[in-house]
Formats: sequence, structure tokens, C-alpha cells
Amino acid sequence: MRLDPRALFLGASVLPRAIAWGSLGHIAIAYIASNFVKENTEAYFQGLLGNDTEHYLAGVATWADSIRYTKWGRFSKNFHFIDAKDDPPTYCGVDFVRDCKEDGCVVSSLQNYTSQLLDSKLWPWQRNQAAKFVIHFVGDIHQPLHVENVAQGGNGIHVNWQGHEFNLHHVWDSSIAEKMLGGNRRKTYDNAFRWASDLTDEIKSGKYLTESASWIDGLLLDDPIATSMVWANESNAYVCSHVFPEGPTAIIGQELAGEYFEKAAPVIELQVAKAGYRLAAWLNLIADRMSGGEKDLGEL
Ligand SMILES: *[C@@H]1O[C@H](CO)[C@@H](O)[C@H](O)[C@H]1NC(C)=O
Ligand SMILES: *[C@@H]1O[C@H](CO)[C@@H](O)[C@H](O)[C@H]1NC(C)=O
Ligand SMILES: *[C@@H]1O[C@H](CO)[C@@H](O)[C@H](O)[C@H]1NC(C)=O
Repeated sequence: MRLDPRALFLGASVLPRAIAWGSLGHIAIAYIASNFVKENTEAYFQGLLGNDTEHYLAGVATWADSIRYTKWGRFSKNFHFIDAKDDPPTYCGVDFVRDCKEDGCVVSSLQNYTSQLLDSKLWPWQRNQAAKFVIHFVGDIHQPLHVENVAQGGNGIHVNWQGHEFNLHHVWDSSIAEKMLGGNRRKTYDNAFRWASDLTDEIKSGKYLTESASWIDGLLLDDPIATSMVWANESNAYVCSHVFPEGPTAIIGQELAGEYFEKAAPVIELQVAKAGYRLAAWLNLIADRMSGGEKDLGEL
């Protein structure tokens, strides 16, 4: 019998989207970025964010999630993802015109808030807010299920995780990373900090040493859409290869903490490392332009 996958996901639309890319991922990405930004970038963003500690980026990395379901923050609820209307695992691909909703998506939001950061006529509080959105959305766009339409980015698909029922989106946002770090769900900042230090070492002298240069190839500060579409496309490709290797219906009710986890963990790790490194390069470009010089484009 062939099931129409959509029929299985009825009701998905009434579920709120899970808190995006669990806090662990976002905070680790921010710490990695703080390990790679240039000195003047650090000074610039510490000033804008009003925090001169090493936690200036990490401390605001989840702010966008904390406001998205509030009355004030509701306007931003669709800014965390782009629903690629592809057909995994046969065909993956994201298309800005087709997939970005009229009221915005993660790609248009990176453009919106990057251009606000570059607009010195805006109030500092507006650029402060724009910085917090950019720090968060660079993280979101690297989570494969933030670049996928099926069952609202997997929110409507029930799976098992160590014997308990979860939705697939949550597994990719949080469960996989938490298991990698030993399953301790408390002390999020400490865990994220240690994870970020390890991944920073992998970028500087370990397994990501050679490939990391290509992660920031062709960043265009004046074209955040083209730049972030490359990131989105890359992330979305994992939907076919690792999220739904057998298709969306095959995964329903499966236990994912075993073999599936073993394959997914390296993807999560790579995407977190990449997001942090790219965030650093993006913030460097912004700080350079705002302080008048445009030397060392995106160089780390
Ligand atoms: C800086 O951010 C960290 C993490 O959010 C926070 O604990 C600390 O109080 C902040 N410091 C200042 C001076 O705002
Ligand atoms: C751009 O950002 C502003 C300020 O947060 C927001 O009100 C507006 O909806 C955003 N526009 C788009 C197209 O995302
Ligand atoms: C998108 O990713 C696919 C691989 O999944 C690649 O072949 C294609 O060139 C990419 N397109 C863009 C615009 O980056």
C-alpha cells in the first residue's frame, strides 16, 4: 500500500514548532564564533551588545527563541526556517522564491537584520536587536530540519528516542547533540563552552583544518540572500542523505538513538562548527564596514 505522507502528518500544523536548534547548539555556535572573530569585531559587538565578557555572543544566542511565542515577538516566528518544498529522499533542494514565505523566512531575515546592522542611522537598540537575530539565524539555517517543509520541518513526525516519544525536529535540534555530550541536560552553558572549545581545536588544527577555509569562500556582505542560500542549500542536502535516507514515512515510530544517531552525530558536529566559523566571518565583515575599513574581507 502506498501512503500519502501528507495524510500521516495531519495535525502537524497545530503543533507549535519546537524551540529551535536547542540552546546547546546555538550557544556552542556563538562560543565558536567568539573564538574566531578579530579583536576589533569583538570590541564592536561587545559595545553594541553591552557585555564585555567572553559570553557576549553566547549570552544572546537564544534570545530570538525566547521571544518568538510572545505577543511582542510573534512577528518573528517564521524567521527561523525556510520550508524547502522538495521531495526527500528523491530530490532535495531549496529555492528562495518558491520557499520563502511572504512574511519572511530565515534567508530574508538574515538579509533584513544584516542590513539593519549596517545602517548607522538606526538606533543602537535596533542594531542590538538585529545583532541578536543574526547570531541566532546563522545557527538555525545550519540545522537541516530548519530548511525543510515535510511535516513542518519534522515537527509532525513522531519517533522514538531512547524509548521515549519525541518529534523528529526535536531530535535534530537537541537530542543528538545532548547524547554526544554525555546526556547531561543541565549546565547548558558549560557544556556548550566545552563543545565549542573542542570544535575550535578541530578547526584550528584538527579534522576540519583543511576544509574550513572553503566554508567562508565567497561570503558577500552585500548579498546576504545569495550567501545564506548557499548555507541553506548545504543544510537541506542532509535532509536527503541523513534525515530521511529512506523517506519521511519510513522513519515514523523508529528508535533513532542507535544506528541513526551514529550517522547523524558527525553531521550535527560539522554543521555546528561551520555555523560558528561562518558567524565569525560574517560579524568580521560587519564590524569592518562599520569601523570604516574593509580590509581583510572575511578573513579569520
Ligand atoms: C554578559 O553575559 C553573560 C551571559 O549572558 C551574563 O552572565 C553576564 O552577566 C553579562 N555581563 C554583563 C556585564 O552584562
Ligand atoms: C525586518 O525587521 C523588522 C524589525 O524587526 C521587522 O519589523 C520586519 O518585519 C522585518 N522585515 C522582514 C521582511 O522580515
Ligand atoms: C545545492 O546543493 C546541491 C547538492 O545538494 C548542489 O549540486 C548545488 O550546486 C547547490 N546549489 C547552490 C545554489 O548552492
